[in-house]
Amino acid sequence: ITAGPTYEAIDPVRGITNRSSGKMGYAIAQAAREAGAQVTLISGPVALPCPRGVQRIGVQSAQDMLQAAQPAAESADIFIAAAAVADWRVANAAAHKLKKDGSGQAPALEFAENPDILATIARSPRAQAGQLYCVGFAAESENLESYAKAKRERKGVPLLVGNIGPATFGQDDNALLLVDAQGSRELPRASKRQLAQQLL
Ligand code: C5P
Repeated sequence: ITAGPTYEAIDPVRGITNRSSGKMGYAIAQAAREAGAQVTLISGPVALPCPRGVQRIGVQSAQDMLQAAQPAAESADIFIAAAAVADWRVANAAAHKLKKDGSGQAPALEFAENPDILATIARSPRAQAGQLYCVGFAAESENLESYAKAKRERKGVPLLVGNIGPATFGQDDNALLLVDAQGSRELPRASKRQLAQQLL
């Protein structure tokens, strides 16, 4: 399970991140553990305790998250990508803290596209052979059903879970829309803990 935001460094003391709290992914990790699974939680920087019995691997950037997720997925039955991964990283991150030079000139950041962790793992031989069931999330602000369906196909995953971004980030409750080959099903607003149990 991936969870939380990623953090993309600009220099050694600054970076770009997002407002994902990690609460949904952590709730899924806890529910999976309680259901008897052996769980590896690959987490970006969040302020949450690791659920009891779960193995947590802390990561920062999207590239770190991919590096951790690939070997973990090799021996997993299910891969759930709940992390809010930055689409872009800073291509020209500085080795030392960027300083104001008095010119009033802001530093120019260049960006490079991050790897798509979910799509990469969904394309792996075990996933293609049906030995690894991949689940993606979509945080949208509108048109949830059509965007979730399109994202399911684009990512090449059997199950895509849609939610409304502004209604979930940082919240303790959420509502989910499950989209698979058979159609869609709504899990109405409830605590993330309850939704995680229903999702599993
Ligand atoms: O493309 P988008 O970011 O909307 O897709 C969301 C889904 O893809 C989530 O499951 C997220 O964890 C996953 N993702 C990923 N790696 C990325 C971008 C998104 O695993 N670089």
